[in-house]
Amino acid sequence: METNDLVSLSDFSKEQIFALIRETKKIKTEKDIYAKSKPLAGKTLALIFQKPSTRTLVSFAAGMAQLGGSPLILNPQDLQLKRGETLTDTAKILSRYVDAIMIRANKHEDVQEIARNSTIPVINGLTDKEHPCQVLSDLFTIVEQKKLSTPEDLKGIKISYVGDGNNMAHSWILAAALLGMEIVVSSPKNYTAEKEFVQKGIELAKISGGKISLESDPMAAVSNTDIIYTDVWASMGKDEERDHRKQIFTQYQVNMALLAFAKPDVSVMHCLPAHRGEEITEEVMDGPRSIIFEQAENRLHMQQAILLHLLRA
Ligand code: CP
Ligand code: NVA
Repeated sequence: METNDLVSLSDFSKEQIFALIRETKKIKTEKDIYAKSKPLAGKTLALIFQKPSTRTLVSFAAGMAQLGGSPLILNPQDLQLKRGETLTDTAKILSRYVDAIMIRANKHEDVQEIARNSTIPVINGLTDKEHPCQVLSDLFTIVEQKKLSTPEDLKGIKISYVGDGNNMAHSWILAAALLGMEIVVSSPKNYTAEKEFVQKGIELAKISGGKISLESDPMAAVSNTDIIYTDVWASMGKDEERDHRKQIFTQYQVNMALLAFAKPDVSVMHCLPAHRGEEITEEVMDGPRSIIFEQAENRLHMQQAILLHLLRA
């Protein structure tokens, strides 16, 4: 059976992304109306986390409850997955009990396998390759914080991603390419975004008019930019490389000196959690250019828009 999934950001069209951003604004401003009408009453969302989470877990669980639905947090250690039951069988069984699955997985292929074998929507809550829910929410934050008249105006925004070419960079490349934005990804050699995502971004950008580029010099990358975006230098699963990476990434720290090369009204974003004093200084994170905490709040509102989009009958 065909289902609506959000495994990769590119599962959604430009029009669907714009609609999600509009609904997020409505949910944020009409919170009480949604809470009263309980549009997801009777629906259950299974949440599976193979890696830690604060924002994704709490915003999906609280968001589901606020819309009248029930979140069901499943620890993979408590499931028969731990004893070798396959992802395929697990997906088939869960499809008979709940209405959607959100999974944070070590391997992107695992989420793809679950999606292929489920008859209900499957949402990627982060993998080694992508973090689509984060970027959808970030797009809303940019529209809100840059006071854009419509989501379509994102087309005029330039974003400079400075740091590890990881899951966040990949989802950002896809988003910019779909919406016709300009993105420059600045990472040290050997830590750049994967070719597959850069190639896909370049192909998609041909249709949207977007611009995707890689620039190893972070100061050149932030020139004339609207948004500086960063993420940890060592993602979950790479913790043992943290000390080694600290040496390699020093030049890529988002600090006041780097901000001086961007527009005076540049906004700074970080998906969090941050390693304060590594990829971003305290001064920038807590300073006037930071929209990081508004960004984190908006995860809640966008998760609700995603759930409504995938689950509303
Ligand atoms: N940004 C993000 O996904 O945070 P968590 O790891 O806390 O969910
Ligand atoms: N790149 C980070 C994102 C955390 C939300 C990680 O995968 O750990």
